[in-house]
This record gives sequence, structure tokens and C-alpha cells, in this order.
Amino acid sequence: MSEMASEKELSAYVETTRKEIEALESLEELDEISAKLKSKRSPLGAARASLGAIEDEKKRKETGRLVGEAMASVMGVFDARRMVLEKSARRQALEDDRLDLTEVVLRSLKAPIQRGHAHLVSQTQDALEDVFVAMGFEVAEGPEVETDWYNFEALNIPPGHPARDMYDTMYLDLGEPETVLLRTHTSPTQIHLLESAVAQGTLPIHAVMPGRCYRLDTPDARHLPVFHQIEGLVVDHGITFGDLAGVIETFTSAYFGPDIHSRLRPAYFPFTEPSAEFEITCTICHGEGCRTCSQTGWIELGGCGMVDPAVFEAVGVDPDEWSGFAFGFGIDRCAQMRHGIADMRALIENDLRFTRQF
Ligand code: DAH
Repeated sequence: MSEMASEKELSAYVETTRKEIEALESLEELDEISAKLKSKRSPLGAARASLGAIEDEKKRKETGRLVGEAMASVMGVFDARRMVLEKSARRQALEDDRLDLTEVVLRSLKAPIQRGHAHLVSQTQDALEDVFVAMGFEVAEGPEVETDWYNFEALNIPPGHPARDMYDTMYLDLGEPETVLLRTHTSPTQIHLLESAVAQGTLPIHAVMPGRCYRLDTPDARHLPVFHQIEGLVVDHGITFGDLAGVIETFTSAYFGPDIHSRLRPAYFPFTEPSAEFEITCTICHGEGCRTCSQTGWIELGGCGMVDPAVFEAVGVDPDEWSGFAFGFGIDRCAQMRHGIADMRALIENDLRFTRQF
């Protein structure tokens, strides 16, 4: 285009350039042409540069306007094309990032992913709670980290008491040495319940308290260092040892089956007086006598007894007005006996061939 750029020439140029731009297929090509369009050596650049050489002012202005309009319309075409190309580049990027999940969905429809289920110990705890709830008990829980006072002292086991030897205790490195520990049994939850019933004036109590307990034991066929107990506590007016024996017998037949019974044998626990061990008909031989029950026909399940007045006094309950009984036994042991599990370690090994059976 010469300095004499005519309107006709300019519009012809705009038209070819529009076609050229609209034929471009990528943002890279657009970038290349952009430099060319803006360069001083481009036809419009040259036309603009030569404006100064036009003598006639009117003519110069007119040509300047025409060149400016031509430039604006080329840039308009350019921007429109850029928007189109950017939009399709975005669409392409999304398309490239898309994950095809149909295969996963189809595979899971053919062989549905298996749902897990509650572990045998949890199932056993639920079943035990159900039996006691049906008998009118409430379910309560207490902390697993206890102070010496809750785990021992309030239960009538002062420091130095020989009964402490029954519990190989795991102490926590908090506060004074040997004052904070992992509870060795669920009995301290009795103390929490009694304290809050006294504070809120809500005696009587009829409650069971399941939960995890800890002892420094080496795992073997009948012991785990982390195990589960369920504690029972009834405090009311005129509660007798006969009530205790009745509750234990009712529970035993309800949970283990109508041909399994219970018996109580004298024992010692610091927090109950009198105390008893309770035994149930051997679930392996049904009382005939076998290796598991050492030919006695009976298997020991837990401890029980009448709440010792010293425990009532520790929490401020008047032993002349209230009486009660307590019991405690192992949840894992119940699962072991009801399902004939030879080695308790199977409960923590997480071998699916074992856990899937229940
Ligand atoms: N806490 C006892 C233990 O773990 C079991 C026990 C015995 C609980 C007698 C009681 C009870 O509530 O009265 O060895």
C-alpha cells in the first residue's frame, strides 16, 4: 500500500486479513500473526508511517482516519478469533483431564465391593448390653485414663494393699509418679456413677458399664493386654445377695442359652463384701467335663458381690440407707466361650478368614 492508501485498498486489505485470521486454528498461530500485524513493516504500519508525508492536511486527516478504522477492524477480528480459540483450548484441556470411571463402576457392579461389619468383640458388647437393657439396666461409660484414686483407692484398695498385685498396671507419665494410669478394670466407672448420682441426687442406680481395660500381660490363649470388661452396679433400697444371684443367672441363660447356668463361689475382692466368683456351665462340654474346664464342667467368668460399705463411704452414700451389688466380667472371654475360640489372640490378629466368620 502506498502513501496514497485508498479506501478501496484498505478495505480489500482488511477483508484478506480477516479471512487469514479466521482460518487460524491455534493460539500459537494467532500469536505469530499478531506480531506481524503490529509491526511497522506491515501494510497498515507502513501506511500509518507515511501519513506525515501527505501534504494536504485534509487528505492527511482523512487517510489517517481510514487507516485507524482499518486497524481497529483488523484488531476486532483478531480479538474475536482469540476468544474462540481460547474457549476451545479450555474445553480441550478439560476433556484431556477427564477421568473415565466407567470401568470402575462396571467392575463394582459385577462384583460389588464388600461392606465390612462390626468386629466380634463389638458385636458381643452390643449383645451383652441388649440383655442387660432388657432387664432394666442403663448403659454408662467411663474414662480409660484414670487416677489412682478411682482405679484403686475409692475401691477400697489403698496404696500397699496386696490386692494391687492382681493388677499389673500401666502407668502414664503425667503428674506425680504412679498416680495416673490406664484403668485395669471397669470398676472405677462405678465410682464415677456413684459420685454423680450423689451430686445430682439421682440414686438409685441400675447400670452396666462396658469398656476397654489395660494390663501389662503378655498375650496368650486366654489373656490380652488390652481387653474389654462389662461392669454392673445396682444400688437401691433393700438389695440382697439373692438379687445378685438372680441377675447373674438370668443373664447367663439369656446370653449363652437356656442350658447354660451359673453358680457363685466364695472369693475375695476389696470392693465387695461378701464377694464371689461366678462360674457358668462349660460351653464346650455343656457340663460333662472336658479339657477346657479341667473336667469340672464349670468355667469362671467374673467376679461379683455386695458393695462394700467402705466404697459407699468413699463417695458419700449412707450404707445404712442404701445397699447394692456389683459384678464385672470379660467381654472378650464371653465371645471366646460362646463361639468356642481356642486362642484369644485371634481377636486382635485381624485375619479376615477369622473375622469374616462372625
Ligand atoms: N474388677 C474385678 C477384676 O477386674 C472384677 C470384679 C469383681 C468386678 C467383683 C466387680 C466385683 O464389680 O464386684 O478383677
